[in-house]
Amino acid sequence: MSTLLNSSFTEPSASPALLLLGQNKDLSSERGVECTGDLPAASDPDLVARARVARAALGDRAFILGHHYQRDEVIDFADVTGDSFKLAREAAARPEAEFIIFCGVHFMAESADILTSDAQQVILPDLAAGCSMADMAAINQVEECWDVLTDAGIADVTLPVTYMNSTAAIKAFTGRHAGTVCTSSNAEVALRWAFDQVGGVDGTGKVLFMPDQHLGRNTAMIKLGFTAADCVVFDPRKPGGGLTTEELRNARMILWRGHCSVHGRFSERNVTDIRAAVPGINVLVHPECKNEVVEAADFVGSTEYIITMLNAAEPGSSWAIGTELNLVRRVAAAHPDKNVHYLDSTVCFCSTMNRIDLPHLVWIMESLVAGRTTNQIVVDRDDAQWARVALDQMLALPGL
Ligand code: 13P
Ligand code: SF4
Repeated sequence: MSTLLNSSFTEPSASPALLLLGQNKDLSSERGVECTGDLPAASDPDLVARARVARAALGDRAFILGHHYQRDEVIDFADVTGDSFKLAREAAARPEAEFIIFCGVHFMAESADILTSDAQQVILPDLAAGCSMADMAAINQVEECWDVLTDAGIADVTLPVTYMNSTAAIKAFTGRHAGTVCTSSNAEVALRWAFDQVGGVDGTGKVLFMPDQHLGRNTAMIKLGFTAADCVVFDPRKPGGGLTTEELRNARMILWRGHCSVHGRFSERNVTDIRAAVPGINVLVHPECKNEVVEAADFVGSTEYIITMLNAAEPGSSWAIGTELNLVRRVAAAHPDKNVHYLDSTVCFCSTMNRIDLPHLVWIMESLVAGRTTNQIVVDRDDAQWARVALDQMLALPGL
């Protein structure tokens, strides 16, 4: 059964229970720790008024970035909204803001800290807003993987490309090995550039793509013309990545075994079902979806691309969108003249993006007004320097 969002969509239940992540341990993980401050109650009837007062008091000292997957109550206070690429650029373009309040997840706030000056403070309203995909690649695992590639004699013809959705330590590893960061909106350009550094797409050089195997595979196969046989998956939990030396030597794309827990839920069956239920529907999905889903869809692109496509769509046209639900619901609400469906009939929020709510935003803004900085994200200096090399490489890619 399909879900038409801009007609009779109802809230699934009051507020979905969120996972208790981290909780005072695993400080270096994307899961972070729980917040220890006195949060205002979500039921406080003055919450919006308190947010407005605090926001006004901070004025130009603060700049609020909101990722497209954030809740409506948070997006209402964002100075700019965007995908992870646009928000990285926006953070870098605000040297006058003393505080960058990042309503997104931990790796995005880390990137903002790297791209801003030492005088600026980047704040993540809830430290438990991590990313399960970023957590699938730890720096020690990546270094062990590189040792495997070295032993196989292919490290010197392999360039690392890391998705924005990774820890600062892995971005730093990428910078140290002359690679680049990419996002879902520039993965093709980034991969073409990377292959150019190791002999070109038609040569024999390789890319180690971390941590999202799906974005890597989709870009390599659909945009660059590689075959499934050119791609291998390196599983960090298996000796040697679970690959033979011959498999590694024959591969062109070495994909890290990581995925997004939200986009990984969409299936080819969802596409078949919605096409049967709504003839003529356009299926538009994010490239973090599995390859069979992307192959079955009509269009694929980042969150910013999805918004642009709907803005340009004909009135009366039908769309099934496969990405996080907060964004799809906002797109549906913005286009009442189009039929916007959610690709999966079961609800699929990103639980960690959803951790940033109005109580957390009010709490950190009121703290700043009172002269206390809470939840500042500070990246280790050496990592920041090398991660910046990989981020600057991304920002310098042609055509962006
Ligand atoms: P983009 O913002 O690059 O579209 O990525 C989506 C996402 O999953 C962010 O975590
Ligand atoms: Fe991570 Fe997926 Fe959530 Fe994005 S949507 S923050 S990739 S878990």
